[in-house]
Amino acid sequence: MRVLVVGSGGREHALAWKLRQSPRLTRLWIAPGNAGTASEGENVPIQVDDVKGLVAFAKKESVDLVIVGPELPLSLGLTDALAEQRIRVFGPSRAAAQLESSKVFCKLLLRQADVPTADYQVFRDADSAMRYVKARFPNERDRTPLVVKADGLASGKGVIVCSKRDEVLEAIDRIGRKNEFGRAGAQMVIEERLEGPEVSVLAITDGRTIVTLPSAQDHKAAYDGDTGPNTGGMGAYSPTPVMTEELMETIEDKILVPSIHAMKRNRKPFRGVLYAGLMLTASGPKVLEYNVRFGDPECQPLLMRLKSDLLDLLEAAADGRLDSIDPPEWDPRPAICVVMASAGYPGSYDSGAEITGLDAADQIPDVKVFHAGTKLQDGRVLTNGGRVLGVTALGSSLANAKLNAYKGVQAIRWPGAWCRKDISDKAALYQEQLAVD
Ligand code: AMP
Ligand code: GLY
Repeated sequence: MRVLVVGSGGREHALAWKLRQSPRLTRLWIAPGNAGTASEGENVPIQVDDVKGLVAFAKKESVDLVIVGPELPLSLGLTDALAEQRIRVFGPSRAAAQLESSKVFCKLLLRQADVPTADYQVFRDADSAMRYVKARFPNERDRTPLVVKADGLASGKGVIVCSKRDEVLEAIDRIGRKNEFGRAGAQMVIEERLEGPEVSVLAITDGRTIVTLPSAQDHKAAYDGDTGPNTGGMGAYSPTPVMTEELMETIEDKILVPSIHAMKRNRKPFRGVLYAGLMLTASGPKVLEYNVRFGDPECQPLLMRLKSDLLDLLEAAADGRLDSIDPPEWDPRPAICVVMASAGYPGSYDSGAEITGLDAADQIPDVKVFHAGTKLQDGRVLTNGGRVLGVTALGSSLANAKLNAYKGVQAIRWPGAWCRKDISDKAALYQEQLAVD
């Protein structure tokens, strides 16, 4: 099979690496890819938002299956444009991708499907949002546990978690008056702030059948101890100890299945990866958000643990016959991914530093270095982004996987490289809490 993967991050390197292992793969392209994907297949210099260019390439090369990594091309309608040309594609239509590209759309669907989520209100202008907050919390000093969210795509930055009234009003001002998020802030959602451990549950679906993947946990804050600004994700591990079989069943029955059914009923059938960002509250799991693609970096530890053929799975989902294949097999060993970043990330950062030690890291048993922001120049690998690498490892226990991943990190050098030192430590913390409860 001839396959095109769209994207250039750590997620796409992991997808390409896993697809490469399929005996049915004959040719693999990645658009635009990075230095890591170049050793799994052929990079094609077409950007992810160039829908016309991607469709033309897929047609010219008689691609059998296109696998879309990031949300941007999905929200631009790449799936629809490919389907029009009868090119098979793994990823939701533009209409279904609204689950991620519009928080208002997502909230309405959750309400309609009776899926547990934080109570919320939608506002189209800052004035009415401010009036609402002041009426609910008349005293300036009241604790104000609210979250303000810009409706549209804002690279994870359009969500402002607040405790004080001033913070809420400032968030409304940034979204609704200063237009910091542009058109993404034309509407905003104000919702109750929930408490509890966060977990990601991803499911592959063809719109009718779902295949739930093992649980994973992301680390969105930049610095150790979950401090500092939000990032795209500084590391992840799978599975999480908070996830029991019973809890997973509840999440499938009360969250994933009703959401998929509601999308189908609304004539926006969802095909692709449905990624639920959940909070495990005292009154059960609740949806914080849906994404419509693999998480990055959650994808990296998940695919390290996948033993079955990824191509079979994604093709069956694209063809609407997920019910006809065996459930995927997973390595019981935990996996973790530690993101190595450029100095300055998530603020402005330099690119172009030479990375050394990649081969040494890859030679450590059970370690795989996935590239994200890298490029090849004259045979050298240079930094080319904020999140540069995702050093991923399996281990006999989570502690052992962590040890392996950080051994990999230590082998790799470039000026200014840094990473969080505490990826997966939350697991031990949660385990202690569970033991006490
Ligand atoms: P989102 O992009 O909607 O997942 O939000 C990013 C992060 O904001 C989440 O990972 C949570 O840590 C936090 N968050 C979002 N919504 C809520 C909420 N209702 N209560 C508490 N934290 C939230
Ligand atoms: N890791 C979070 C995301 O992919 O959105």
